[in-house]
Amino acid sequence: MVDTSVNYVNRRVAELRRELNYHNHRYHVLDDPVISDYAFDRMLQELRQLETEHPELVTPDSPTHRIGGDPAEGFVQVEHRQTMLSLGNAFDPESLAAWHQRVKNLLDGADFAMTCELKIDGLAVSLIYENGVLAQGATRGNGYVGENVTQNLRTIRTIPLQLQGNPPPYLEVRGEVYMPVDSFSRLNEERRERGEPLFANPRNSGAGTIRQLDPKITASRNMQIWVYSLVDAGDFPTPANHWDTLEWLQSLGFRTNPHNRRCHTLEEVNAYYREWLERRHDLLYEADGVVIKVDRFNYQAALGIVGREPRWAIAYKFPAERAVTRLLDIGINVGRTGSLNPYALLEPVIVSGATVRHASLHNEEDIRRKDIRIGDWVTIERAGDVIPQVVGPLPDRRTGEEQEFRMPELCPECQTPVVKPEGEAMHRCPNPSCPAQFFELLKHFVSRGAMDIDGLGEQWCRILIDQQLVRSVADLYFMERAQLLELERMGDRLATKIMDNIEASKTRPLPRILFALGITHVGAEVADLLTQRYASIDQLYQASEEELTGIAGIGPKIAQSIYEYFQEADNLAVIEKLREAGVKLHHEIEIVNPSDLPWHGLSFVVTGALAAMTRREAETKIKALGGSATSAVTRKTSYLVAGESPGAKLDTAQRLGTRVLDETTFLRLLSEPPAALEMPGELL
Ligand code: IVH
Repeated sequence: MVDTSVNYVNRRVAELRRELNYHNHRYHVLDDPVISDYAFDRMLQELRQLETEHPELVTPDSPTHRIGGDPAEGFVQVEHRQTMLSLGNAFDPESLAAWHQRVKNLLDGADFAMTCELKIDGLAVSLIYENGVLAQGATRGNGYVGENVTQNLRTIRTIPLQLQGNPPPYLEVRGEVYMPVDSFSRLNEERRERGEPLFANPRNSGAGTIRQLDPKITASRNMQIWVYSLVDAGDFPTPANHWDTLEWLQSLGFRTNPHNRRCHTLEEVNAYYREWLERRHDLLYEADGVVIKVDRFNYQAALGIVGREPRWAIAYKFPAERAVTRLLDIGINVGRTGSLNPYALLEPVIVSGATVRHASLHNEEDIRRKDIRIGDWVTIERAGDVIPQVVGPLPDRRTGEEQEFRMPELCPECQTPVVKPEGEAMHRCPNPSCPAQFFELLKHFVSRGAMDIDGLGEQWCRILIDQQLVRSVADLYFMERAQLLELERMGDRLATKIMDNIEASKTRPLPRILFALGITHVGAEVADLLTQRYASIDQLYQASEEELTGIAGIGPKIAQSIYEYFQEADNLAVIEKLREAGVKLHHEIEIVNPSDLPWHGLSFVVTGALAAMTRREAETKIKALGGSATSAVTRKTSYLVAGESPGAKLDTAQRLGTRVLDETTFLRLLSEPPAALEMPGELL
């Protein structure tokens, strides 16, 4: 008789998970499977069966979740405990040598080892493990705040759900998620057959895949990861350099790139670069350069970070790739702000693995200066994920049939005479209700980073405008389902989806709606800044230009553009209509000016075990009072909060002369945060 006792089921589920995790790792990370796919699938099937029969045994780290769980509602934002950094660039051996020399000088002439890695052209993610279990995965976002994409990352087979060996209680690592080049080609092939828009390159399609609300889509696209840094392991003992750390991470089950190499001299680094410049197309993924990192962590700490770029690492980029093709015609695209942007229509050509049909031509002056003519053979260049550029013509190949280009005198969309403001390079259509401008605005308004109205793709935006269903973005909220259903090719399901998503978009957070309005120069980051200061669109409307310029990160150009936006009656009418529709134009919570908070400008490190709360809770409380919480003690740290068994951080603090708070003092300060904490010496 089959044993179905609780004990048996428990044991069998645990055993299957252990086995499946082990074989997943052998297959996907080590590339060295020891059982057949068939045997693997059988085990997975058995586990799935047991989980269906005993739902109480389902855990978030079960290997069955690889297949993709339920679609997420939308992505929740997460604040990174440590900023996700970017890298400075070198483009030639001289600037690399200059970086190397600068590092050497800063290290008082010491010799230093470096780890060289491939720079993967994908999407940076942060992975947090609690007690060895994947607890959170997030995108980079703006470096400070990203999106929680845990459900999607769980479907990536090379991301361990459960770590092996002896993992620390808390661990954050970062790495690059990417779509292999062959999966990218296959995906685009399928999209072409279905008549869907194509992805420009594996990077874009990878990013699009991770930001899919339905994890099943992520699961179906063969995404991969290379893990390239350890960010935080709490007080857990970890290696003293990056190279050994990568090895340690590998032993925990992470996939680290086998092409990484430890180098000791600049010559070795150059050799590594040249080797990969040559071999990069042999890789199954796109690499756009190499990353060089000073190996020892104490050196990294001494070198520090400037802005968002660590001095201890640099990206040595591969040169852009070029190709020659025919310039068939020059088209004009009217942008969101009315600028007339010329672009090249090319005879399709493959450049570093992607088919290029269009390229940017900047403006009329640039076309004239480079003497680019329609019909010319031109050199085009593609670097990483940027839009390909036309470098210049090959005049020797001219036949005499080529045509010079002239900017149109009338807007190609609305026939309004074009203007070219004094001192500006761009021609503009001055008509604010130009359908092309509005088309761009509507596309922007419904896009992912803005109101995220999924289902309203580019084609539908065009149709809604042509059918005069919307004349302003606010009209979306007054559209009726029946009107949608009258449109050709609009099905019942899509109409429902669009209506639901329009409804859901009414409660997007304030920065999103502000960004969605499409105010010139107000991108996502500026919108974030503004909404840290203003609690509603109405408050922003009342701000003077001077007041806006006073905000860190807002220059006079941005301030002027915001001010002018609110002077336009048409814009105010749109805002009123959005309000009438019930679109949220304010924060849910009251906000305070960060510099008014008592601990503004102070940075804390919490270490050891606190009796009253977890370290995370302590950090949340610090942040609520305006302080920042980081994990490494440096000269900039204002206080170390030391609980039970504080470990090495206490030694560092004592060496650097950082002030140390014991738990009792910390709790006292929390309960009555004195405004005078800036002069802490006297308080203690
Ligand atoms: S290290 C210092 N290593 O490049 C910490 N980054 O321009 C910064 N990237 O956002 C990251 N491969 O997405 C590092 N082997 C690698 C990388 C890598 C790709 C990306 C990463 C980062 C960007 C920085």
